[in-house]
Amino acid sequence: MKIGSAEGLTVAFAIEELNAGNCKTYLLCSGTHAVLVDPVRERTESYGRVLAERGIRLDAIIETHTHADHLMLNREQSRRLGGQVIMHRDSPLPFVHRHVTDGDRIEVGKESIEVLHTPGHTPDSICLRISGAVLAGDTLLIGGSGRCDFPGGDAGKQYDAVTRKLFSLPDDTVVWPAHDYKGRTSSTIEQEKHSNPRFAGRSRADYVELMANLGLSYPDRIQEALQVNQSGFEGDEVAFPPVRAVASVPEMSATALCSRLHQPEPPLIVDVREPEEFVGELGHIQGAILVPMDALEKRLPKLAGYVDRELVVVCRAGARSASAAAMLANAGFAHVANLSRGMLAWVEASLPVQR
Ligand SMILES: [Fe+2]
Repeated sequence: MKIGSAEGLTVAFAIEELNAGNCKTYLLCSGTHAVLVDPVRERTESYGRVLAERGIRLDAIIETHTHADHLMLNREQSRRLGGQVIMHRDSPLPFVHRHVTDGDRIEVGKESIEVLHTPGHTPDSICLRISGAVLAGDTLLIGGSGRCDFPGGDAGKQYDAVTRKLFSLPDDTVVWPAHDYKGRTSSTIEQEKHSNPRFAGRSRADYVELMANLGLSYPDRIQEALQVNQSGFEGDEVAFPPVRAVASVPEMSATALCSRLHQPEPPLIVDVREPEEFVGELGHIQGAILVPMDALEKRLPKLAGYVDRELVVVCRAGARSASAAAMLANAGFAHVANLSRGMLAWVEASLPVQR
């Protein structure tokens, strides 16, 4: 379905939605260059066919956020489809090639995509602004908005992102959402500003209250999708704990952990990232022991000596480590906490790292 190059639209990219379902995947093409936005795992083969048939080279796969309702492409599937994986800096995923932040530009052929950081649905939510249009992810839907009750969700931040960033775009900007459950394809900023019942005439406090009382059930596959999408591991590589157990792990802030480390009997830090992340851009905390997620179960006997010691589990963004902390608590470790927002928070607080 060609939907972006219609007469009268000022969209310079050719935009195409590939799934024709509730969950939308967009192909943005500029000549023979292209990016795929929010691909769904089950459809990987069909995306490959579309690209091959048209002789299109994939420059990048961009995820607008860590999805909870479908499986994202894994490392191998992304590699086969080609192109680097791009996500916001707050993404927990270990195999992102390029992390972007607000205002960054992603060049595709002769065109350029502007990244808008729009946290709220998830901390790593971004919208992609192109000429005349915005791919709004799950931040702004047609007549709705993405739920904020998953881990890291924040309705207040979402209200600010929509009303300050998206609603300040020109009124005729076309809005392409990541989901629609009523078969609609696009909207405009003007339409959403005036008729989206979540925002029109509502204050920030109204919105926060509304989102807290939606009473939505959790998606059927959330446990599988979220923990797989956050960690980059499959369910047969890591025995993921139940979501409820993950949610009950106590969180510790970076500054609280830093002061605990300077007191007598400091906690042991268990870093569950991949070896390349441990020595990579964010570095690691001095004294941390590295036990990647998929090695944790096997290493439990070796960690048994620490069963009564305070453990703080650390990863990139605090998602993988929350699962790992729940696994440790379940295995009998008595005092396990999770470093809230992981090494991202530690580095943002300018605390010392080693590489
Ligand atoms: Fe989502």
